Amino acid sequence: MASPTLTLGIVKPDAVASGKTGKVVAHLEQAGFVVQAARLVRLTEAQAGAFYEVHRGRPFYDELVRFMISGPCLPMALERDDAVAHLRTVIGGTDPAEAAPGTIRKLYAESKGRNAIHASDSRENADREVRFFFSEGELAGLRG
Ligand code: RTP
Ligand code: MG
Repeated sequence: MASPTLTLGIVKPDAVASGKTGKVVAHLEQAGFVVQAARLVRLTEAQAGAFYEVHRGRPFYDELVRFMISGPCLPMALERDDAVAHLRTVIGGTDPAEAAPGTIRKLYAESKGRNAIHASDSRENADREVRFFFSEGELAGLRG
């Protein structure tokens, strides 16, 4: 069996504010992910801007940063085999109107901008994004 890998998921502020955090986490666990670390945080503008640095200059960047700081969100280090690809499949397409049936965004997202969950899009970004929110100690401590 393939060895477990980590990716970063974030329950976004729309889903936290509308009381869907538990449903989203349950969906992830049902899909085979193990939550290795999680923390409810209210991002600063600087943190949200840095996290989505790759999108700076895009037309939706300012709206994205404003949304991500609008309320608490829940970053999570999620573990399973081929975690990055599996999480992208489980969350569905960026726009819930076009997301596949049964995906988290189809079930719980409000709109393309307010779309319930973030997922890393590559192994490299997953490493960077997990470290953005969690220290080595927090991650290692859970493995006993
Ligand atoms: P994410 O990074 O949050 O997991 O989303 P994604 O990969 O599916 O989509 P990405 O292209 O990376 O865009 C990041 C986030 O920006 C917002 N967005 N809004 N209004 C728009 O046209 C638009 N386009 C993107 C979404 O919140 C998207 O998740
Ligand atoms: Mg993305």
